Amino acid sequence: MNFNSLFRKKSVGVTLQQGGDGEHSGLNKVLTVRDLTFFGIAAIIGGGTFSAIGNACFSGGPAVILLYIICAIACGFTALCYAEFASRVPVSGSAYTYAYVSFGELFAWIIGWALLMEYSIGNIYIAFSWSGYFTNLLDGFGLHLPEWLTINYKAAHLAFIDNKAGEGLIAWTNAPEIGGLKLIFDLPAVLVNVCITWLVYIGTKESKNISNLMVMIKLVVIVLIVIVGCFYIDTANWKPFMPNGFGGVMSGVSAVFFAYIGFDAISTLAEESKNPQQDLPRGMIYSLVICTVAYIILALILTGMVSYTLLGVTDPLAEIFKIKGVKWMLYIVSIAAVVAMTSVLIVFQMGQPRIWMTMSRDGLLPKRFSSIHPKYKTPGFATIVTGFVVGVPMFFTDENFILDFTSIGTLFAFVLVCGGVLMLPSQKNEDYTVETKGKFRLPYINAKWIFPLLVLISFCLIFYLAPDFFTSKFVFTSDTIATNLPMLVFFVLCIVVSVLSYTKKLSLIPVLGLISCCYLLTGMASSNWIWFSIWLTIGLIVYFLFSYRNSNLTKK
Ligand code: ALA
Repeated sequence: MNFNSLFRKKSVGVTLQQGGDGEHSGLNKVLTVRDLTFFGIAAIIGGGTFSAIGNACFSGGPAVILLYIICAIACGFTALCYAEFASRVPVSGSAYTYAYVSFGELFAWIIGWALLMEYSIGNIYIAFSWSGYFTNLLDGFGLHLPEWLTINYKAAHLAFIDNKAGEGLIAWTNAPEIGGLKLIFDLPAVLVNVCITWLVYIGTKESKNISNLMVMIKLVVIVLIVIVGCFYIDTANWKPFMPNGFGGVMSGVSAVFFAYIGFDAISTLAEESKNPQQDLPRGMIYSLVICTVAYIILALILTGMVSYTLLGVTDPLAEIFKIKGVKWMLYIVSIAAVVAMTSVLIVFQMGQPRIWMTMSRDGLLPKRFSSIHPKYKTPGFATIVTGFVVGVPMFFTDENFILDFTSIGTLFAFVLVCGGVLMLPSQKNEDYTVETKGKFRLPYINAKWIFPLLVLISFCLIFYLAPDFFTSKFVFTSDTIATNLPMLVFFVLCIVVSVLSYTKKLSLIPVLGLISCCYLLTGMASSNWIWFSIWLTIGLIVYFLFSYRNSNLTKK
């Protein structure tokens, strides 16, 4: 194996030939820009809004809206990069495909491996949250499932160890035993995964129609929450604005970022859309704009209606109406949450097999992953495997771990996408003729002066507003190293990117996307980094043992 072969690239021309025109893929080309925008909204507004936002508000207070704005900025820049890529390389595969033509095979594999977290592992969190709201609804109708069937094993075990009263402890105490092992698992989460897998297996068209309907219901209910919520806002709740400092706000980064994940899933549907070059970028940007507006308003309503201290629950949007005694809204919100999360589950469960399909076509995964079901025209085998990848860990893990793991993996993929755009050949490059077909163009703004100036101004502002900030970040004790080291790396990165912007006249939008996503990564806890590193190591082992040898580029 020679070192350079790790960075061999797939040409854009070959990529397009393999599936860009859809003729070779066998998939139905049925999706319009409206469908794609709806898919985006379906993927974005889900567990992050209905569930994870509670803990983010609890730790950050009303100032959590700053984190929504920061994440929106990072995702906005990244969406533009995705749009640029999607218009140049309009085939299934998301960031994976884009990395293959810009960074080369090894990075493409890493990104494909990281995306597994966004699509499959993320769905585990959503299924758990779905189960929480669904169980509430059943309770509302007088149907009570035993606790040992509505919580995951790990959460119940933790509750037992911490002797924490509540669902977990009840489940642990009452669970039946088989061979000394407590039988505790989240039955609704497992069942919803089975249903979604089946739905996605039988076809895109069916899934699309159901998904569109769910998005309509979801948007109507969000408008209702805003209208009703406005009547209960007490501006006193917005004070103190930042009760736990900026550190408290940033500790919600996994939860808030998770709420934004999804716009990129649109790019996995390239081969099923009628006019991918034009519609993919539009669908991504439209859905992101709509959801960002909805989030900012929702966050203001939530933190305005009750004290942030009451929001550390898994069903915060139902909780606020429970506290205010608005019973009818409580049911409507619970139904909407179930609907919203179902649509998110569908989009991600559709996205994962399509990424695998592309990787399999490239020889990086076994051929079966790209087989298309003769009747349903969907990647049948890969869809079933996705069902298992989502379903099996549900028996062994809990929602908090999954949330962090998903967010770090997705952010990592976003960083590589923004970096990838910077490495795409320029428009003048003669070998790159296919790109002229792309209808979306990322506006080129020369970062030469602007980016270094932005960094300088930011550093001066921080120094002016918080004089101790830099000195505190350079203190490395056993207590501070975990939080200070990522920040130090980030500062160094800012300086390196400033120099590169100046010398290479980089394009400003991908530079800002790269830096803002890296900034969000600094908010991840050290334990997340350790798990993520283990995950990447396993991925590299698989790559060298199977994918490198079987890659189409090796066989050439
Ligand atoms: N953004 C998606 C959600 O919040 C992943 O469920």
